[in-house]
Amino acid sequence: MLENIQKLNKEIINDIKSLKDKESLENFRIKYLSRKGSLNDLFENFKNVDKSIKGAVGKALNELKVFTQKTYEDKQAELDKLNKQDSSDEDYTLPGRKFNLGSKHLITQALEDISSIFQRIGFKVVDGREIEDEYHNFDALNTPDYHPSRDMQDTFYLKSEGMNKRYLLRTHTSPAQVHIMKSQKPPVRVIIPGKCYRNEAISARSLSMFHQVEGLYVDKNVTFRELKGTLDFFVKEFFGKDLKTRLRPSFFPFTEPSAEMDVECYLCNSKGCRICKYTGWLEILGCGMVDPNVFKHVGYDSEEYSGFAFGMGIERTLMIRHSVPDIRMFYENDIRFLKQF
Ligand code: DAH
Repeated sequence: MLENIQKLNKEIINDIKSLKDKESLENFRIKYLSRKGSLNDLFENFKNVDKSIKGAVGKALNELKVFTQKTYEDKQAELDKLNKQDSSDEDYTLPGRKFNLGSKHLITQALEDISSIFQRIGFKVVDGREIEDEYHNFDALNTPDYHPSRDMQDTFYLKSEGMNKRYLLRTHTSPAQVHIMKSQKPPVRVIIPGKCYRNEAISARSLSMFHQVEGLYVDKNVTFRELKGTLDFFVKEFFGKDLKTRLRPSFFPFTEPSAEMDVECYLCNSKGCRICKYTGWLEILGCGMVDPNVFKHVGYDSEEYSGFAFGMGIERTLMIRHSVPDIRMFYENDIRFLKQF
Protein backbone atom coordinates (compact mmCIF):
# COMPACT_ATOMS: atom_id res chain seq x y z
CA MET A 1 0.00 0.00 0.00
CA LEU A 2 2.76 2.39 0.91
CA GLU A 3 4.36 1.63 -2.42
CA ASN A 4 1.11 2.46 -4.20
CA ILE A 5 0.93 5.74 -2.36
CA GLN A 6 4.47 6.59 -3.43
CA LYS A 7 3.72 5.63 -7.03
CA LEU A 8 0.67 7.85 -7.04
CA ASN A 9 2.66 10.64 -5.44
CA LYS A 10 5.17 10.49 -8.29
CA GLU A 11 2.41 10.44 -10.89
CA ILE A 12 0.72 13.42 -9.34
CA ILE A 13 3.96 15.43 -9.23
CA ASN A 14 4.56 14.58 -12.85
CA ASP A 15 1.05 15.64 -13.88
CA ILE A 16 1.33 18.95 -12.07
CA LYS A 17 3.81 20.09 -14.73
CA SER A 18 1.15 19.87 -17.42
CA LEU A 19 -1.45 21.96 -15.55
CA LYS A 20 -1.64 24.87 -17.99
CA ASP A 21 -5.31 25.61 -18.49
CA LYS A 22 -8.78 25.02 -17.13
CA GLU A 23 -9.20 21.84 -19.07
CA SER A 24 -6.04 20.10 -17.83
CA LEU A 25 -6.87 21.23 -14.29
CA GLU A 26 -10.32 19.69 -14.50
CA ASN A 27 -8.86 16.44 -15.83
CA PHE A 28 -6.42 16.48 -12.91
CA ARG A 29 -9.28 16.90 -10.45
CA ILE A 30 -11.30 14.07 -11.98
CA LYS A 31 -8.28 11.76 -12.13
CA TYR A 32 -7.13 12.22 -8.53
CA LEU A 33 -9.66 14.03 -6.38
CA SER A 34 -13.13 13.00 -7.58
CA ARG A 35 -15.15 10.25 -6.01
CA LYS A 36 -13.93 7.83 -8.62
CA GLY A 37 -10.38 9.24 -8.56
CA SER A 38 -7.18 7.43 -7.65
CA LEU A 39 -6.96 8.92 -4.17
CA ASN A 40 -10.42 7.70 -3.28
CA ASP A 41 -9.47 4.24 -4.59
CA LEU A 42 -6.63 4.14 -2.10
CA PHE A 43 -8.90 5.31 0.71
CA GLU A 44 -11.30 2.49 -0.21
CA ASN A 45 -8.44 0.00 0.13
CA PHE A 46 -7.36 1.48 3.42
CA LYS A 47 -9.71 -0.78 5.37
CA ASN A 48 -7.77 -3.81 4.13
CA VAL A 49 -4.43 -2.51 5.38
CA ASP A 50 -2.73 -4.48 8.10
CA LYS A 51 -3.32 -2.96 11.52
CA SER A 52 0.40 -2.71 12.27
CA ILE A 53 1.01 -0.23 9.45
CA LYS A 54 -2.39 1.49 9.42
CA GLY A 55 -0.99 4.53 11.21
CA ALA A 56 1.82 5.11 8.78
CA VAL A 57 -0.31 4.42 5.70
CA GLY A 58 -3.12 6.66 6.95
CA LYS A 59 -0.71 9.48 7.55
CA ALA A 60 0.93 9.15 4.13
CA LEU A 61 -2.43 8.92 2.42
CA ASN A 62 -3.75 11.99 4.20
CA GLU A 63 -0.64 13.98 3.43
CA LEU A 64 -0.91 13.09 -0.25
CA LYS A 65 -4.58 14.08 -0.33
CA VAL A 66 -3.93 17.43 1.37
CA PHE A 67 -1.01 18.09 -0.98
CA THR A 68 -3.06 17.22 -4.09
CA GLN A 69 -6.04 19.27 -2.98
CA LYS A 70 -3.86 22.31 -2.23
CA THR A 71 -2.02 22.01 -5.51
CA TYR A 72 -5.35 21.93 -7.30
CA GLU A 73 -6.69 25.00 -5.47
CA ASP A 74 -3.52 27.02 -5.94
CA LYS A 75 -3.42 26.27 -9.63
CA GLN A 76 -7.08 27.19 -9.95
CA ALA A 77 -6.49 30.57 -8.26
CA GLU A 78 -3.54 31.22 -10.50
CA LEU A 79 -5.55 30.54 -13.66
CA ASP A 80 -8.44 32.68 -12.44
CA LYS A 81 -6.09 35.58 -11.91
CA LEU A 82 -4.66 35.22 -15.39
CA ASN A 83 -8.15 35.09 -16.88
CA LYS A 84 -9.17 38.21 -15.05
CA GLN A 85 -6.26 40.12 -16.50
CA ASP A 86 -7.18 38.93 -19.96
CA SER A 87 -10.78 40.00 -19.63
CA SER A 88 -10.03 43.46 -18.18
CA ASP A 89 -11.81 46.59 -19.53
CA GLU A 90 -9.50 46.82 -22.47
CA ASP A 91 -11.12 45.27 -25.46
CA TYR A 92 -8.89 46.26 -28.31
CA THR A 93 -11.40 45.14 -30.88
CA LEU A 94 -13.96 47.78 -29.88
CA PRO A 95 -14.26 50.79 -32.19
CA GLY A 96 -12.46 53.88 -30.87
CA ARG A 97 -14.27 56.46 -28.78
CA LYS A 98 -15.39 59.58 -30.59
CA PHE A 99 -14.03 62.88 -29.32
CA ASN A 100 -15.92 66.02 -30.13
CA LEU A 101 -13.38 68.28 -31.72
CA GLY A 102 -13.74 71.99 -31.08
CA SER A 103 -13.68 74.41 -33.97
CA LYS A 104 -12.96 78.07 -34.45
CA HIS A 105 -15.73 80.53 -33.70
CA LEU A 106 -17.05 82.09 -36.87
CA ILE A 107 -15.85 85.53 -35.80
CA THR A 108 -12.31 84.15 -35.42
CA GLN A 109 -12.65 82.45 -38.79
CA ALA A 110 -13.74 85.70 -40.42
CA LEU A 111 -10.91 87.70 -38.81
CA GLU A 112 -8.42 85.12 -40.03
CA ASP A 113 -9.95 85.01 -43.53
CA ILE A 114 -9.84 88.79 -43.85
CA SER A 115 -6.31 89.03 -42.48
CA SER A 116 -5.03 86.39 -44.86
CA ILE A 117 -6.61 88.09 -47.89
CA PHE A 118 -4.76 91.31 -47.06
CA GLN A 119 -1.56 89.48 -46.16
CA ARG A 120 -1.46 88.14 -49.70
CA ILE A 121 -1.18 91.67 -51.02
CA GLY A 122 1.53 92.78 -48.64
CA PHE A 123 -0.32 93.90 -45.50
CA LYS A 124 1.06 92.95 -42.11
CA VAL A 125 -1.31 91.93 -39.31
CA VAL A 126 -0.70 93.83 -36.07
CA ASP A 127 -2.43 94.13 -32.69
CA GLY A 128 -3.89 97.27 -31.24
CA ARG A 129 -4.85 97.96 -27.61
CA GLU A 130 -8.34 97.58 -26.21
CA ILE A 131 -7.69 100.14 -23.48
CA GLU A 132 -6.84 103.47 -25.05
CA ASP A 133 -6.60 107.05 -23.91
CA GLU A 134 -8.70 109.91 -25.23
CA TYR A 135 -5.79 111.27 -27.21
CA HIS A 136 -5.33 108.15 -29.37
CA ASN A 137 -9.01 107.27 -29.67
CA PHE A 138 -10.15 110.81 -30.54
CA ASP A 139 -7.71 113.77 -30.59
CA ALA A 140 -5.01 112.29 -32.75
CA LEU A 141 -7.75 111.10 -35.10
CA ASN A 142 -8.88 114.69 -35.57
CA THR A 143 -12.08 114.13 -33.60
CA PRO A 144 -12.96 117.40 -31.85
CA ASP A 145 -14.08 117.85 -28.26
CA TYR A 146 -17.67 118.47 -29.21
CA HIS A 147 -18.00 115.30 -31.33
CA PRO A 148 -20.96 113.20 -30.11
CA SER A 149 -18.91 109.98 -30.02
CA ARG A 150 -16.93 111.47 -27.13
CA ASP A 151 -20.07 111.60 -25.02
CA MET A 152 -20.40 109.37 -21.93
CA GLN A 153 -23.52 108.01 -23.58
CA ASP A 154 -21.47 106.47 -26.35
CA THR A 155 -18.09 105.67 -24.83
CA PHE A 156 -17.06 103.53 -21.85
CA TYR A 157 -14.64 105.71 -19.88
CA LEU A 158 -12.49 104.04 -17.26
CA LYS A 159 -11.91 105.52 -13.82
CA SER A 160 -8.83 107.64 -14.41
CA GLU A 161 -8.68 109.75 -11.24
CA GLY A 162 -5.18 110.76 -10.28
CA MET A 163 -3.89 109.95 -13.75
CA ASN A 164 -2.76 112.52 -16.24
CA LYS A 165 -4.92 111.00 -19.02
CA ARG A 166 -8.47 109.84 -19.39
CA TYR A 167 -8.64 106.16 -20.32
CA LEU A 168 -11.43 104.39 -22.18
CA LEU A 169 -12.31 101.19 -24.00
CA ARG A 170 -11.55 101.89 -27.64
CA THR A 171 -14.66 102.65 -29.66
CA HIS A 172 -13.01 101.63 -32.94
CA THR A 173 -9.75 100.06 -34.14
CA SER A 174 -8.59 103.36 -35.72
CA PRO A 175 -6.42 104.50 -32.74
CA ALA A 176 -4.06 101.63 -33.60
CA GLN A 177 -3.24 103.63 -36.77
CA VAL A 178 -1.79 106.35 -34.57
CA HIS A 179 0.39 103.96 -32.53
CA ILE A 180 1.77 102.33 -35.64
CA MET A 181 2.54 105.56 -37.47
CA LYS A 182 4.21 106.97 -34.36
CA SER A 183 6.40 103.90 -34.06
CA GLN A 184 7.64 103.69 -37.66
CA LYS A 185 8.30 105.66 -40.80
CA PRO A 186 6.45 104.98 -44.07
CA PRO A 187 5.87 102.76 -45.92
CA VAL A 188 3.18 101.37 -43.60
CA ARG A 189 0.84 98.65 -44.76
CA VAL A 190 -1.08 97.04 -41.90
CA ILE A 191 -4.30 95.28 -40.91
CA ILE A 192 -5.52 95.53 -37.32
CA PRO A 193 -8.30 93.14 -36.29
CA GLY A 194 -9.81 93.41 -32.81
CA LYS A 195 -12.56 94.10 -30.31
CA CYS A 196 -14.23 97.48 -29.88
CA TYR A 197 -16.68 98.76 -27.27
CA ARG A 198 -19.57 101.19 -27.36
CA ASN A 199 -22.15 102.06 -24.79
CA GLU A 200 -25.08 100.80 -26.87
CA ALA A 201 -28.48 99.59 -25.78
CA ILE A 202 -28.35 95.85 -26.44
CA SER A 203 -30.66 94.72 -29.21
CA ALA A 204 -30.85 92.37 -32.18
CA ARG A 205 -28.66 94.82 -34.10
CA SER A 206 -26.18 96.06 -31.51
CA LEU A 207 -24.05 94.88 -28.63
CA SER A 208 -21.64 96.81 -26.43
CA MET A 209 -18.73 94.74 -27.78
CA PHE A 210 -18.07 93.98 -31.43
CA HIS A 211 -15.19 93.42 -33.83
CA GLN A 212 -13.61 95.58 -36.48
CA VAL A 213 -10.79 95.19 -38.95
CA GLU A 214 -8.81 98.34 -39.62
CA GLY A 215 -6.55 98.84 -42.61
CA LEU A 216 -3.88 101.47 -43.27
CA TYR A 217 -1.53 102.08 -46.16
CA VAL A 218 0.86 105.04 -46.21
CA ASP A 219 3.63 105.68 -48.70
CA LYS A 220 4.65 108.20 -51.36
CA ASN A 221 1.94 108.80 -53.95
CA VAL A 222 -0.78 106.54 -52.53
CA THR A 223 -3.98 107.38 -54.39
CA PHE A 224 -7.71 107.00 -53.96
CA ARG A 225 -7.67 104.72 -56.99
CA GLU A 226 -5.47 102.26 -55.06
CA LEU A 227 -7.93 102.38 -52.18
CA LYS A 228 -10.75 101.33 -54.49
CA GLY A 229 -8.62 98.66 -56.22
CA THR A 230 -7.55 97.17 -52.89
CA LEU A 231 -11.08 97.05 -51.50
CA ASP A 232 -12.48 95.60 -54.74
CA PHE A 233 -9.90 92.83 -54.52
CA PHE A 234 -10.90 92.17 -50.91
CA VAL A 235 -14.61 91.97 -51.73
CA LYS A 236 -14.01 89.52 -54.55
CA GLU A 237 -11.88 87.27 -52.35
CA PHE A 238 -14.05 87.48 -49.25
CA PHE A 239 -17.45 86.98 -50.82
CA GLY A 240 -16.09 84.66 -53.47
CA LYS A 241 -17.95 86.41 -56.27
CA ASP A 242 -17.27 89.15 -58.73
CA LEU A 243 -19.59 91.57 -56.93
CA LYS A 244 -19.90 95.19 -57.96
CA THR A 245 -18.95 97.78 -55.38
CA ARG A 246 -19.69 101.48 -55.10
CA LEU A 247 -18.27 104.29 -53.01
CA ARG A 248 -20.61 106.86 -51.53
CA PRO A 249 -19.27 110.17 -50.17
CA SER A 250 -19.32 110.21 -46.39
CA PHE A 251 -17.62 111.86 -43.44
CA PHE A 252 -15.08 110.63 -40.90
CA PRO A 253 -12.92 113.13 -38.97
CA PHE A 254 -9.71 111.22 -39.70
CA THR A 255 -10.07 110.87 -43.49
CA GLU A 256 -10.50 113.42 -46.26
CA PRO A 257 -12.16 112.68 -48.56
CA SER A 258 -14.18 109.95 -46.83
CA ALA A 259 -16.44 107.31 -48.29
CA GLU A 260 -18.56 104.33 -47.46
CA MET A 261 -18.34 101.22 -49.56
CA ASP A 262 -21.38 99.22 -50.59
CA VAL A 263 -21.41 95.83 -52.29
CA GLU A 264 -24.13 94.51 -54.54
CA CYS A 265 -26.63 92.62 -52.43
CA TYR A 266 -25.63 89.04 -53.09
CA LEU A 267 -28.67 87.71 -51.30
CA CYS A 268 -31.08 88.99 -53.93
CA ASN A 269 -28.61 89.68 -56.76
CA SER A 270 -29.37 93.39 -56.38
CA LYS A 271 -33.04 92.90 -57.14
CA GLY A 272 -33.99 94.32 -53.75
CA CYS A 273 -34.86 92.38 -50.60
CA ARG A 274 -35.55 92.87 -46.90
CA ILE A 275 -31.85 92.63 -46.00
CA CYS A 276 -30.71 95.35 -48.40
CA LYS A 277 -33.86 97.31 -47.62
CA TYR A 278 -34.83 97.09 -51.30
CA THR A 279 -31.85 99.18 -52.41
CA GLY A 280 -29.85 96.33 -53.98
CA TRP A 281 -26.76 97.45 -52.01
CA LEU A 282 -25.19 96.51 -48.67
CA GLU A 283 -22.88 98.84 -46.77
CA ILE A 284 -19.75 97.05 -45.58
CA LEU A 285 -17.12 99.59 -44.55
CA GLY A 286 -15.93 103.15 -44.07
CA CYS A 287 -12.76 104.44 -45.73
CA GLY A 288 -10.91 107.44 -47.07
CA MET A 289 -7.57 109.18 -47.55
CA VAL A 290 -5.74 109.83 -44.27
CA ASP A 291 -6.41 113.42 -43.17
CA PRO A 292 -3.29 115.66 -43.08
CA ASN A 293 -4.21 116.56 -39.49
CA VAL A 294 -3.67 112.92 -38.48
CA PHE A 295 -0.28 112.94 -40.20
CA LYS A 296 0.58 116.07 -38.21
CA HIS A 297 -0.10 114.23 -34.92
CA VAL A 298 2.18 111.32 -35.84
CA GLY A 299 4.92 113.45 -37.34
CA TYR A 300 4.52 112.47 -41.00
CA ASP A 301 4.99 115.11 -43.68
CA SER A 302 1.73 115.24 -45.62
CA GLU A 303 3.51 116.94 -48.52
CA GLU A 304 5.67 113.87 -48.92
CA TYR A 305 3.31 111.06 -47.97
CA SER A 306 -0.29 110.12 -48.57
CA GLY A 307 -2.29 107.14 -47.46
CA PHE A 308 -5.63 105.43 -47.26
CA ALA A 309 -7.44 103.81 -44.36
CA PHE A 310 -10.55 101.73 -43.94
CA GLY A 311 -12.51 100.07 -41.15
CA MET A 312 -15.18 97.39 -41.28
CA GLY A 313 -17.52 95.88 -38.73
CA ILE A 314 -17.31 92.10 -38.65
CA GLU A 315 -20.58 91.12 -36.96
CA ARG A 316 -22.74 93.16 -39.32
CA THR A 317 -20.96 91.78 -42.36
CA LEU A 318 -21.36 88.22 -41.12
CA MET A 319 -25.01 88.76 -40.28
CA ILE A 320 -25.55 89.67 -43.90
CA ARG A 321 -23.32 86.93 -45.28
CA HIS A 322 -24.99 84.13 -43.30
CA SER A 323 -28.47 85.64 -42.82
CA VAL A 324 -28.06 85.76 -39.02
CA PRO A 325 -31.14 87.57 -37.71
CA ASP A 326 -29.81 88.61 -34.27
CA ILE A 327 -26.30 89.80 -33.39
CA ARG A 328 -26.60 88.23 -29.91
CA MET A 329 -26.50 84.76 -31.47
CA PHE A 330 -22.75 85.16 -32.03
CA TYR A 331 -22.11 85.20 -28.29
CA GLU A 332 -24.72 82.89 -26.82
CA ASN A 333 -22.44 79.92 -27.53
CA ASP A 334 -25.32 77.75 -28.61
CA ILE A 335 -23.55 74.80 -30.14
CA ARG A 336 -26.36 74.29 -32.69
CA PHE A 337 -25.64 77.74 -34.06
CA LEU A 338 -21.83 77.56 -33.90
CA LYS A 339 -21.70 74.12 -35.53
CA GLN A 340 -23.08 75.52 -38.75
CA PHE A 341 -19.89 77.39 -39.53
N1 DAH B 1 -13.51 103.98 -37.32
C1 DAH B 1 -14.69 104.04 -38.12
C2 DAH B 1 -15.88 103.56 -37.34
O1 DAH B 1 -15.71 102.95 -36.34
C3 DAH B 1 -14.55 103.23 -39.36
C4 DAH B 1 -13.56 103.82 -40.31
C5 DAH B 1 -13.94 104.69 -41.26
C6 DAH B 1 -12.22 103.47 -40.20
C7 DAH B 1 -13.05 105.27 -42.15
C8 DAH B 1 -11.29 104.06 -41.07
C9 DAH B 1 -11.74 104.95 -42.05
O2 DAH B 1 -9.99 103.77 -41.02
O3 DAH B 1 -10.83 105.45 -42.90
O4 DAH B 1 -16.99 103.77 -37.73
